[in-house]
Amino acid sequence: MELLHRALLSALGALSIFYALVKISLGYWKRRGILHEKPKFLWGNIKGVVGGKRHVQDALRDVYAGYKGRAPFVGFYACLKPFILALDLKLVHQIVFTDAGHFTSRGLYSNPSGEPLSANLLQLDGHKWRSLHAKSAEVFIPANMKKLIPRLVQISSRIQTNLGKTSLQTRNISELVAAFNVDVMASTAFGLGGQDHQEFAKWTRNNWGDFKLWQAYLALEFPLVARLLQYKSYAEPAMAYFQKVALSQMQEQRRRDRQPLQTLLQLYSNADQPLDDVQIAAQAFGFLLAGLGPLNATLSFCLYELARQPELQDRTRLEIRKTLEQQGGQVTPECLRELKFSKQVLNETLRLHTPHPFLLRRATKEFELPESVFVIAKGNSVLIPTAAIHRDPELYEDPDRFDPGRFEEEARRSRPPAAFLPFGDGLRGCIAARFAEQQLLVGLVALLKDHRYSPCAETTIPIEYDNRRLLLMPKSDIKLNVEGVD
Ligand code: HEM
Repeated sequence: MELLHRALLSALGALSIFYALVKISLGYWKRRGILHEKPKFLWGNIKGVVGGKRHVQDALRDVYAGYKGRAPFVGFYACLKPFILALDLKLVHQIVFTDAGHFTSRGLYSNPSGEPLSANLLQLDGHKWRSLHAKSAEVFIPANMKKLIPRLVQISSRIQTNLGKTSLQTRNISELVAAFNVDVMASTAFGLGGQDHQEFAKWTRNNWGDFKLWQAYLALEFPLVARLLQYKSYAEPAMAYFQKVALSQMQEQRRRDRQPLQTLLQLYSNADQPLDDVQIAAQAFGFLLAGLGPLNATLSFCLYELARQPELQDRTRLEIRKTLEQQGGQVTPECLRELKFSKQVLNETLRLHTPHPFLLRRATKEFELPESVFVIAKGNSVLIPTAAIHRDPELYEDPDRFDPGRFEEEARRSRPPAAFLPFGDGLRGCIAARFAEQQLLVGLVALLKDHRYSPCAETTIPIEYDNRRLLLMPKSDIKLNVEGVD
């Protein structure tokens, strides 16, 4: 009896401590006197997101729309973790561009000793990120990116082969574009040749293994403890596979050194002070992690929108055909430069379906907002709600409408730079933005040149997003009717 009594008292004590800790965590913004949305117990301001009832971009958009104009930022809680949610484009501009030196960290978990491939540009912070960024910036210069175009074009021809001269048939567009993007990643990031990339593709789908959100959350909150316990973010067999492939490809390349430039691995190994091979393999994995999902999402959403607006689709195809004709049928760097309307179409896709719905920063120094009483404290995590900004009716009239005209030169120049940030920007912006734009454009040329797309009985209209993912993805594969055009 006494034992039961003691057990009950201990449970009650533990619950009281837990309750007090939750209350203290969720009282952070109140104690700092910062305007904030009242948090729900345990869930903070993301109730419904964890259970998959709504997408995180909707939670952010609600708060952005509700508080914009009242303060430069509001306090926000993702479960118990407090974030600053930037509302004012001037502040966004300061964080991303002018005062980026105060916000060089992202605050993601990485464990280089236990999980070497997590030592990539996306996940690292501090001096390790700084030196890696300097080396990577040399790799991703425009001249190098241009040299990779022939490889992209060669890979894109498989799209044409795959589609063939089809009469009307229903195709799984998500699978079609994923095959292209996986081939490009396997080839340019990991150096794999033209062989079948089925095994590579399989591991790209399984790299998260037995991922548990609550474990990732704890690792983010208590990285030192997580490292001590050797918490691993990714499935070990997948990491072993990617590391083996990258290392063997680098050895292979060194054996046949004088080959023309085709891969990012080559560029890293040829640098003046190259990284060691495992560090280079980590970068290849980081590219896969950061790039594959957004590339797949953007190309599939783009075809979905064009299928619904045949006149925009015809205009894009006409531009592609005319430009190719002027360049003797070849997809050259000049040809890509000329595809102005196609680029507008891709930008409008990135606006309406922003793959990374927010940018993440951590203040590495205290930041006093100029001419105001507000302060972002050192260590505060900052969310920039890009998807909400991209659908702000004060910046984009009738924001839910797909209209590539918004990206005509003049219209674009009339908006502040912080109004369109699908690749982020500044010091921690997407290092491969130019490469990704090239890849999207080359893919779009191959997809549209000789084929027409239209909705079919299996097309979900309006599109539904997968609420369980932070990246914006369709809830189920996008399917469309495809037919050849003369
Ligand atoms: C449609 C395609 C893509 C989109 C929309 C996209 C978007 C982004 C965004 C929003 C960020 C965070 C930027 C910030 O915090 O300011 C980022 C970072 C990054 N992206 Fe991309 N990305 C794409 C493709 C790629 C590709 C293809 C690669 C690699 C080949 C890549 C490599 C990276 C890396 C390494 C970072 C981390 C940079 C750093 O922290 O220094 N991305 N990307």
